[in-house]
Amino acid sequence: MRLQVTPKHARDDDPGVVAALLECHARIRSFMEVAARLAALPDGTRHEDIVEAATGVASYFGEALPHHEADEEESLRPRVAGRDADVDVMLDEMTRQHEKLHGPTATLVALTGGVATAPETLTGETATRLGETVAVLEPLWREHLDLEENDLFPALERMLGERELADIRAEMRGRR
Ligand SMILES: [Fe+2]
Ligand SMILES: [Fe+2]
Repeated sequence: MRLQVTPKHARDDDPGVVAALLECHARIRSFMEVAARLAALPDGTRHEDIVEAATGVASYFGEALPHHEADEEESLRPRVAGRDADVDVMLDEMTRQHEKLHGPTATLVALTGGVATAPETLTGETATRLGETVAVLEPLWREHLDLEENDLFPALERMLGERELADIRAEMRGRR
């Protein structure tokens, strides 16, 4: 793994701020893969399997993802904004990308939420729309996770002290 943060004060079972954010990224990638598989399911797939996959995608992107975005926008951003011009550019880009993700993510949640309650509708047009939505989201997520993992998070680790990291971690826990 490229990034590892273990503040000295962290509890043994606490992964730390950046590691916890990276765990969210792993879930984003994993549920995007589930969404892509759902869109390409062969006819005859058991309805229970469709419901389980669609429910997972709808609830992750509809309920959990907003907490992750709030971690970044409400806990990280205010603590580093205005301290370094290059980081400010990255933060603005991060926010622009979050906004670009909102529309297609809402479509993904609506489509998979519908399929979760009526798995027999995952045919023809619905599967095509789901596939198109995944195709829009995949490059947006690639670009976004690359920015955060390769540029923004390493910069944050350099800028934030242990006290600030502990406060951020507490806010992250408070959202869940
Ligand atoms: Fe993120
Ligand atoms: Fe983000």
